[in-house]
Amino acid sequence: MKQFISANDVPDIPALIQKALDYKANPWKDENLGKHKRIGCLFLNPSMRTRLSTQVAAKQLGMESVIFNLSQEGWALEFEDGAIMNGTTVEHVKDAAPILGNYFDILAVRTFPSLLNKEEDNNELIINQFIKYAGIPVISLESATMHPLQSFTDLITIKESVAEQNLANKKLKIVLTWAPHVKALPQCVANSFAQWVNKWGEADFVITHPEGYELNEEYTKGAAIVHDQDKALAEADFIYVKNWSAYNDYGQVLSTDQSWMLTQEKLKKTNNAKVMHCLPVRRNVELSDEVLDGPNSLITKEASNRVWAAQAVIAEILHTMANNIK
Ligand code: CP
Repeated sequence: MKQFISANDVPDIPALIQKALDYKANPWKDENLGKHKRIGCLFLNPSMRTRLSTQVAAKQLGMESVIFNLSQEGWALEFEDGAIMNGTTVEHVKDAAPILGNYFDILAVRTFPSLLNKEEDNNELIINQFIKYAGIPVISLESATMHPLQSFTDLITIKESVAEQNLANKKLKIVLTWAPHVKALPQCVANSFAQWVNKWGEADFVITHPEGYELNEEYTKGAAIVHDQDKALAEADFIYVKNWSAYNDYGQVLSTDQSWMLTQEKLKKTNNAKVMHCLPVRRNVELSDEVLDGPNSLITKEASNRVWAAQAVIAEILHTMANNIK
């Protein structure tokens, strides 16, 4: 693996899930793989889980991690090629990224979408400019349209839970449900979850949301879209709860309908479904306390599994570098 930006960078998802679970069983088994190597983690937006799990994963591979909160502590970067830099930006990514490429062996970047310009966000200018100019492998810690480490973690968590619940011989039903929120949030987690579940191909996949919250079909194609949440949740084995802002009316909040919040009552219609959320979560807005604190919630396990996802991905990239695979 030469980079990790989306599910399309992963040739064999089940094998990568198994690799992550192997690390969970034996965290230090490759403790020298990253010896004398450094990962630089650039944050243009806030994070807790992604930042800390990446650092823990790197440490368990014997690798040093350096965190740089670029948006708070660095120079304001320009990303447009050919820009006349007489405004607020101070340094061009074309100048900064090659330096980072010399300081580090792997570069990891977190950046959110503007939610103002759909085309610009879809073009993934920021992460693509780092890929273009850094000259080293790049890992997405969430970008304008995707959150691949989160979605990979989600599949690891589902696989683990399937084994624990003896569901291995059942065709799974996974439901991604929109939830209300007070702010306009990116579509990244939902896009990415849809992309990974579709590519994985081991479940019946249903997406439910109010009309107007259709996601980019590039990621949802293959899933059943159901606007009646009750119907969608029937017999579900896993429910992934997430808010996203509208994609067609780009970045708009079209509804805050609280009847879409997942409650214990709604779980009664499911196959004792396990409930997932990437966190952070707005309690009693997206999900009720009783669900989050109840026996069906996988949220802590899911967030904890971020370490094994990051470790498997970094290890794959280190192996590719060590074998000099083009
Ligand atoms: N789920 C997730 O990416 O969490 P953080 O924003 O805290 O990294």
